[in-house]
Amino acid sequence: MADNKQIVELLKKASKETPTHAFWDTQPVPKIADEVEQSGPIEFKTLDDVRKDPLGLPGLFEWVEIDVNSQTELQDLYTLLNENYVEDDDNMFRFDYSPSFLKWALQPPHYYKEWHIGVRVKETKKLVGFISAIPADVRVEDKVVKMVEINFLCVHKKLREKRLAPVLIKEITRRVNLKDIWQASYTAGVVLPRPVAVCRYWHRSLNPKKLIEVGFSSLPPKMTMSLMIKYYRVAEQLKNATMRKLEKKDCESATALLNQYLSKYRVAPTFTTEEFWHWFEPRENVMTCYVKVDSDNKVTDIFSYYNLPSSIIGNQKHKTLKAAFSFYNVATTTTIKELIDDALLVAKKEEFDVYNCLDIFENDKFFKDLKFAVGDGNLQYYLYNYSTPLKHSSEIGLVLL
Ligand SMILES: CC(C)(COP(=O)(O)OP(=O)(O)OC[C@H]1O[C@@H](n2cnc3c(N)ncnc32)[C@H](O)[C@@H]1OP(=O)(O)O)[C@@H](O)C(=O)NCCC(=O)NCCS
Repeated sequence: MADNKQIVELLKKASKETPTHAFWDTQPVPKIADEVEQSGPIEFKTLDDVRKDPLGLPGLFEWVEIDVNSQTELQDLYTLLNENYVEDDDNMFRFDYSPSFLKWALQPPHYYKEWHIGVRVKETKKLVGFISAIPADVRVEDKVVKMVEINFLCVHKKLREKRLAPVLIKEITRRVNLKDIWQASYTAGVVLPRPVAVCRYWHRSLNPKKLIEVGFSSLPPKMTMSLMIKYYRVAEQLKNATMRKLEKKDCESATALLNQYLSKYRVAPTFTTEEFWHWFEPRENVMTCYVKVDSDNKVTDIFSYYNLPSSIIGNQKHKTLKAAFSFYNVATTTTIKELIDDALLVAKKEEFDVYNCLDIFENDKFFKDLKFAVGDGNLQYYLYNYSTPLKHSSEIGLVLL
């Protein structure tokens, strides 16, 4: 991403355009244009301060917990998100998180079912709103903070702009607070008070013909389709010939390697071995993770990505864009560029159309050489009830699904 000066300008502009936020101005977050100098919680509360009963909802609706172990409830959630979740600015693509992905994303070790909050229409039981939290330890500068990661905030298209989102956010906050947790991390495409970092996606085309046909990319002037296909061809052999899928026996050394690597970032999670296995275990159509080990069977290098397709809205020929999203990568015996080159090869074999990667970590080291193109639109990182000075995207070591 741009340097911090440009980001400060961007935030000032956002704050001029939307000087007040009826909801966010009441929450423990810094104002958009605030200059924050120190890290720490913004407000301190105790369990006595937390209301014990759920927030009020308009009369037609009711709170429910979504049990993602129930096929029908998981299907309800899938349908809500499939039809109403995040779209790109031009409304051409909408994220299509699969049911198996949702189960994985919502059930890490020590998850709570009561943090999978739905809103249904009382009469028809139709699911029209959702928000979730999962527990995570995230280090901000030198402090590991017990927090939650908030995700899958969604309100049905027909119920938009009726201030339902703040009710969902307040209710998840209440339920998280009841477990004595007071901080959260989340990302959003919109600028709210107040980003910790402003990041951007880069895209590596793997199936240029399809990407052009669906309007994801365009054919540059003087470029033919066959030249384009040739340009984006990936290697046929792994640069790191011994890379293989992660296995359970690798977990201890892989967790240690990853935690060590993450220690150099200013905002980054810490993983227990149990959490590591949950997040990185290879799962068909959800998670791909490869490792390289040394002669003592210690993991020295890791690449990983998750499978998050998008529905292609209103295209007769193609219904789904198959996208890989870079997760956590560590290179110690190879370069990060060669490691990701191997990831591209595996992703191509798995028939992905595009490989997406944020400009966090050291990722901008390989974008140009590996033919990534910059995307449009930013992704903001946020912390709830924790202020910390603005970070450059390359100081972020956290991936939220
Ligand atoms: C995001 C979404 C739930 C917001 O609902 P909405 O009906 O548009 O907005 P509401 O009238 O209920 O609430 C508006 C408030 O929510 C805030 N808000 C909007 N999007 C938000 C987001 N992604 N995260 C946190 N707050 C958000 C607004 O800033 C506003 O608060 P403010 O007045 O303090 O600025 C809805 O647009 C949606 O489902 N979008 C598609 C999925 C999506 O983008 N989810 C968020 C992924 S990060």
